[in-house]
Amino acid sequence: MFEIKKINDQNIEAVFKLYQKINLYNKSSVTFLETMKKPCHIGFCGYMNNTLSSFLSAIHVLDEIDIVEIGVIKQQRRRGVAYKLVSHLKKHCIKNGIRKIFLGVSENNIAAISLYEKTGFYKIGIRKNYYFRDGFSSDCYEYFWELKS
Ligand SMILES: CC(C)(COP(=O)(O)OP(=O)(O)OC[C@H]1O[C@@H](n2cnc3c(N)ncnc32)[C@H](O)[C@@H]1OP(=O)(O)O)[C@@H](O)C(=O)NCCC(=O)NCCS
Repeated sequence: MFEIKKINDQNIEAVFKLYQKINLYNKSSVTFLETMKKPCHIGFCGYMNNTLSSFLSAIHVLDEIDIVEIGVIKQQRRRGVAYKLVSHLKKHCIKNGIRKIFLGVSENNIAAISLYEKTGFYKIGIRKNYYFRDGFSSDCYEYFWELKS
């Protein structure tokens, strides 16, 4: 059974450990933990059979949300988990009058790009050489979703 809960004081450390396990590379671990503790942070995590296996982290300012990170544990990928988390965030936006969601993703991250395009985001810009990893730079694709009125 799959269940989505809000990231809160009770599960934040577990989400942080999961983040480190998934080994997302575009932000330092400390930065991510600090981000999750900010009052403007909004996050959701997914439990498969009561075991934490995924998360989505975002920042909410006025009527906009910026997705900071999304991650699903390797063993549970390609089963629609990330799709459910993004859909959940969109429902949260609709319920709370938040009209826009922004995010940035490396041009090399085909899985994430496909996910966002499947969930209704469209590309609005490119930041050249925004990411730098293992001696190589890559562009950041900026994506956007807007609540239709
Ligand atoms: C990106 C990520 C969150 C996707 O999670 P997921 O639960 O496997 O994604 P879903 O199963 O919900 O897939 C939804 C859609 O995304 C696309 N997608 C997901 N993984 C894909 C892959 N490896 N290759 C191509 N498309 C992919 C597909 O369109 C998929 O729909 P489909 O299965 O019907 O074809 C996961 O691969 C991950 O955690 N990656 C490491 C962390 C990361 O890169 N985060 C993004 C930072 S911006």
